Amino acid sequence: MATTQENPLLEGLHVRRTPDPCILTIFGASGDLTQRKLIPALYSLAFRRLLPDRFGIVGVARTEESDEEFRDRMKEAVQNHARDEFRDDVWDALAAGMRYVATDFADEEGENRLASTLAELDEERGTNGNRVYYLAIPPVVFGTVVEALGKRRTAHGWTRLIVEKPFGHDLESARELNRSIEAHFEENEIFRIDHYLGKETVQNMLALRFANGIFEPIWNRQFVDHVQVTVAESIGIEGRAGYYEKSGAIRDIFQNHLLQLLAITAMEPPIDFTADSVRNEKVKVLRAMHTPGPKSVVRGQYGRGFVEGEEVPGYREEEGVDPQSTTDTYVAAKLYVDNWRWADTPFYVRMGKRLARRETTIAIQFKRAPHPPFEELSSEGLRPNVLVVHVQPDEGISLAMGAKVPGQGMNIRTVHMDFLYGGAFRTGLPEAYERLILDAMLGDATLFTRIDEVEEQWSLVDAMVAPWARDRPAFPNYPAGTWGPPSADDLLIRDGRAWRKH
Ligand code: BG6
Repeated sequence: MATTQENPLLEGLHVRRTPDPCILTIFGASGDLTQRKLIPALYSLAFRRLLPDRFGIVGVARTEESDEEFRDRMKEAVQNHARDEFRDDVWDALAAGMRYVATDFADEEGENRLASTLAELDEERGTNGNRVYYLAIPPVVFGTVVEALGKRRTAHGWTRLIVEKPFGHDLESARELNRSIEAHFEENEIFRIDHYLGKETVQNMLALRFANGIFEPIWNRQFVDHVQVTVAESIGIEGRAGYYEKSGAIRDIFQNHLLQLLAITAMEPPIDFTADSVRNEKVKVLRAMHTPGPKSVVRGQYGRGFVEGEEVPGYREEEGVDPQSTTDTYVAAKLYVDNWRWADTPFYVRMGKRLARRETTIAIQFKRAPHPPFEELSSEGLRPNVLVVHVQPDEGISLAMGAKVPGQGMNIRTVHMDFLYGGAFRTGLPEAYERLILDAMLGDATLFTRIDEVEEQWSLVDAMVAPWARDRPAFPNYPAGTWGPPSADDLLIRDGRAWRKH
């Protein structure tokens, strides 16, 4: 295995070992995710020589395409979306093991073609029957594909299944989906993706909390006033009306990414960094959360407005969206984690599309100093200490604290101590999918969600959306390019608090 000394490119990725030879089959290969994320991530792994020498990729989708056409399309995807420069030698080596199979999986014939392509490639590349199946397909075809894969499992080599979101649309459908997978695969063969867990900055929350002695003693209700988690996007729904109309912000972001960020922030220290230890602690947090009452939840939908100087349509005007749609594109909530560490400490969370700008942050706001011995006027510009984890963009951590303004008298103002990834480390940050694909190949499920977490997440969402079926919200209630509906501000104002300024 190459070390970071031999290969400085490895610095951005902590490499434990190289995966076994294997074939990665992507179902949904004509989709956006494959072009924008998966193939560019695989290229970046190849660029850093992190893939096994004996490796193959099979794309599977409905679109009729030859191997050659598929390779050309993927080459373009890498040129447009990969974070690394395009190198012919890296691409040629990767493309040599690339095949494409067109099928809708509704018939045996398609299954047979895939099976023989896999068998041929396995022989050619020497991948010992090891298979990773990446399922980036709509829920309606999910059952059929899993069944077909399960039926044709061979005793030869290992099999792992990476499952993209959405994992169901409520608790019942998630359980159903899981039953269909578990009929053929063991839990330790199933890798449910939440790509936020693959983000460096999210993992760094674990490093911040558990690799430093100074934070843990104050990471609790005695010192923390409240926590704010923001997942703001300036983009709209990007042509995904079919999916988004049924999901809304609550299922698209809250159910998975947001709750995972919260769980990582609130969890107890795991005894080690293994899949079960980490997930055991996260699921306890999710279990400790109770359903917020209707007054503690605000939902919104964007109307027409301006984002970064450009006029954009309202949600109801987007192509494919019902002009009367009541789908939420924004959700804010006040949540509680009812345990000894966090009882009575509010976790204010908000997420939305078409907000003023892209920003994902976790802000821990500490209680005020109990008795500042300064005159009131001199500390007017002083705010409480806040530790902000900037998940994206401008990845890093900042700590707000009071400092004396130079000069006569004792004037205090808030200043920031910043750690920026860009400045501290030489290499760029790997994409979440690089880390996650590699982990799945290695069989490490630490950064994937276990079924009990998924179930807890859905239970909470189901309870939150139940009252929504009855009311007709006055949508749109925020113009695109703003920070969401005014009622989201009230959520905090009522408690004598405010959302962090941007
Ligand atoms: C996806 C959602 O899971 O996450 C998208 O389906 C959203 O709607 C995306 O835009 C955000 O991911 P990132 O990595 O850009 O923050």
